[in-house]
Amino acid sequence: MRLDKFLSDMGAGTRSELKKEIRRSGVTVDGTVVKDPGFSVSEKSHVVFRGSTVAYEEFVYYMLNKPAGIISASEDDREATVIDLISEPKRRDLFPVGRLDRDTEGLLLITNDGALSHRLLSPKHHVDKVYFARVSGMLSDSDVELFRDGLILTDGLECLPADLKILSVSEEEYLSEAEITVREGKFHQVKRMFASVGAEVIYLKRLSMGPLTLDPGLDTGEYRRLTPDELLSLGL
Ligand code: URA
Repeated sequence: MRLDKFLSDMGAGTRSELKKEIRRSGVTVDGTVVKDPGFSVSEKSHVVFRGSTVAYEEFVYYMLNKPAGIISASEDDREATVIDLISEPKRRDLFPVGRLDRDTEGLLLITNDGALSHRLLSPKHHVDKVYFARVSGMLSDSDVELFRDGLILTDGLECLPADLKILSVSEEEYLSEAEITVREGKFHQVKRMFASVGAEVIYLKRLSMGPLTLDPGLDTGEYRRLTPDELLSLGL
């Protein structure tokens, strides 16, 4: 691939910025200074740019603890997106794997690996997603059964069976807390499921997706690369 593409894929800048900089200052490729932006390099080339080695990675994977108030999109003209939270030099083709609502927090995978994203999101694959929910309302065992049997929402949507684990119920505050595991990801899935049993979600956080569990060391808004074990668990 071209040297300017190699560097721009690795988040060093835009192709046009990089072309100028390579012509002006040069880049060391395998020990030789190169000033041609179209110089052919491979993933194995040893590239030194602005004094640092730039290793080529085809795919990158980040675990983000999404904060409320940020949209799950790659780019937006008016507001900040989850991709803007990745502050290191980054690839330009990153996207979030699926969407969490603006007010939902928690685990969001960010990558440029379209095949993995498809595998995790495809309705055929029924990947488990676990959420912590605080709802206004009093959850009961009959709700657990309704969720287990597969809810039918008010608009007729039939949900796959879901596991509801009630963590606490406060009659005084008219609040309940629960963990819910769903195997699909339709628009506002969890909020609509609770609404169908008369409970309004007032806080929602995703705890896990397939084999990935939100790292408790990540504060909201923080992210890190997936570990080798996590990559293995995803079959990567
Ligand atoms: N279900 C919802 O209702 N919202 C989310 O953000 C995720 C799942």
